[in-house]
Amino acid sequence: MLSYLHGFHAGNHADVFKHAVLTLLLEALLAKPKPLVYLDTHAGAGVYDLESGQAGKTGESAGGIGRFWAQRAAFPELASYVAAIAAHNPDGGCRRYPGSPLLAGHLLRTHDRLILMELHPNEIATLRQTALGDPRIHLHHRDGFEGLPALLPPKPARGLVLIDPPYEVKSDYKRVADGLAAAYARWPTGVYAVWHPRLGVQRDQADSLLRRCLRHVPALLVTTLQVRPQTDDFGLHGSGMAIINPPWQFAERLTAVMPRLAAVLADGSLQANGWSLEWRKRNV
Ligand SMILES: C[S@@+](CC[C@H](N)C(=O)[O-])C[C@H]1O[C@@H](n2cnc3c(N)ncnc32)[C@H](O)[C@@H]1O
Repeated sequence: MLSYLHGFHAGNHADVFKHAVLTLLLEALLAKPKPLVYLDTHAGAGVYDLESGQAGKTGESAGGIGRFWAQRAAFPELASYVAAIAAHNPDGGCRRYPGSPLLAGHLLRTHDRLILMELHPNEIATLRQTALGDPRIHLHHRDGFEGLPALLPPKPARGLVLIDPPYEVKSDYKRVADGLAAAYARWPTGVYAVWHPRLGVQRDQADSLLRRCLRHVPALLVTTLQVRPQTDDFGLHGSGMAIINPPWQFAERLTAVMPRLAAVLADGSLQANGWSLEWRKRNV
């Protein structure tokens, strides 16, 4: 059942964190002139109106892109992220928030390719309208967990996969680990970024997800950003990105930007700086 709609959450703290890491990853890969492929297993609708009824109902973007946008001048490392948002808002501001496919589309060059998968019929229809006429984009109306291994290794065999499911159903956690296992077996040199939620004490499954992934890949660079203390409620107090095969010196790049990003996105109730970065390795 596809009940999740990203329009309710677009531009929230988790999106800003995920998209900041995504643009840094793509920039690192773009440092070389060789063509690359970007694969998005759960692409979403592409662009979101932050003044829509959906966005207004949760008001989540105020604590995410709203906070970041006011402080964007303090983030020279994220100039590409800012430029991608600005490109979708020619009148200024950030009302139209670009999701992962459009951020990637903004950064990638004419000889790169984007492979985007999305299962929700309305979301893919919106994405199709936005992507119209861009010859780099290949859209697949299909299950991203099944589609990913089927499309690997890509041509050219250099690039990045974003795995960003809603995690509204418990099975998504297992499907992420299984999908990653199948993908990594076919394409062990790809860069993979797995977004995951950080939830209340009783519901948080980040640790078991990462342990499950480590059965299939040798190491993960895991970064998290927390905006409020972890309590026992149902809310999303933070999120993480687990990166397989990060580009050279990527941990250093994250270390430079994450403290400032965490400080800007924190909601004021956190005592400590809410970010972390660690290597997790498979026990052999
Ligand atoms: C978190 S949103 C994606 C956001 C997008 N990656 C971004 O950063 O802008 C998750 C998307 O996955 C879609 N979805 C849910 N289950 C799916 C599946 N099995 N395969 C592909 N897409 C799926 C949902 O319709 C939703 O649009």
